[in-house]
Amino acid sequence: MALILENQELQPGIMKMTLAYQEKNVRPGQFFMLRAWDKDPLLSRPISVYDYQPGKLSFLYQVVGKGTAILKELRSGNELEIQGPYGNGFPQIDTDLLIIGGGIGIAPLFYLARDFKTKNPHKKCRAYLGFRDNPYVTEAFEAICDEVVINVGGIITDDVKTNNSETVMTCGPEIMMKAVSKIIPDSTNVYVSLEAHMACGIGACLGCSCQTKNGNKKVCKDGPVFLREEVFDV
Ligand SMILES: Cc1cc2nc3c(=O)[nH]c(=O)nc-3n(C[C@H](O)[C@H](O)[C@H](O)COP(=O)(O)OP(=O)(O)OC[C@H]3O[C@@H](n4cnc5c(N)ncnc54)[C@H](O)[C@@H]3O)c2cc1C
Ligand code: FES
Repeated sequence: MALILENQELQPGIMKMTLAYQEKNVRPGQFFMLRAWDKDPLLSRPISVYDYQPGKLSFLYQVVGKGTAILKELRSGNELEIQGPYGNGFPQIDTDLLIIGGGIGIAPLFYLARDFKTKNPHKKCRAYLGFRDNPYVTEAFEAICDEVVINVGGIITDDVKTNNSETVMTCGPEIMMKAVSKIIPDSTNVYVSLEAHMACGIGACLGCSCQTKNGNKKVCKDGPVFLREEVFDV
């Protein structure tokens, strides 16, 4: 069980939860299975790591259904069950980094950017963040990235300008990640973080299978991060 230090509503339906966490090291792009109920809903819910530093683990989540509605009601001092970290996470790179996030898909990109700039202070990290309406946590990105472009109500991929010194990492609605995959030149590596319905989170149930160019893969164990050409037609 993990102790909740904070569970704050940043915008209507957008929550940031911070837990006390003293266990394994966590890599950007990994996720945990969260559970704060007994039998209903049946399954734990996968949520990406928004930020991690020794002793503290944060999640940024959108309230969309029963599980996330229960999470929203938790208060500082309550406990919840977490399992993880799971998944491959984003790879380490030796180029500059361009991140492109849409909506709650920006969640795993913050720790990615922060970790990248900590390890590579002289390399550039640029961010494009798209929101349907009220933006959130943009100041956190502005504090660590070299450049942040925010698009509210439009199409974030219309704004994207890339250069070949960058590796691209993206998370958000599938339609946005497919658009990113189309507009970025072939010479640039593009990594996409996929979503799937998950039951076990550890590769045991096949609930999260996805078709790839290299056969069926499990989003929870082989992913959630894949090279674009593996999972999308580009
Ligand atoms: C690896 C991974 C990381 C994720 N990280 C985050 C995160 O950082 N922040 C965040 O807000 N959400 C994240 N999600 C999505 C999150 O898991 C779902 O929103 C959550 O499970 C919904 O649970 P619920 O009980 O509130 O809603 P439900 O009642 O289960 O579902 C509500 C609606 O959301 C859809 N839905 C539920 N789960 C998923 C899913 N996994 N993929 C696509 N659609 C789904 C349902 O079809 C339904 O339409 C992640 C999902 C995955 C697979
Ligand atoms: S969720 Fe069970 S195999 Fe991926």
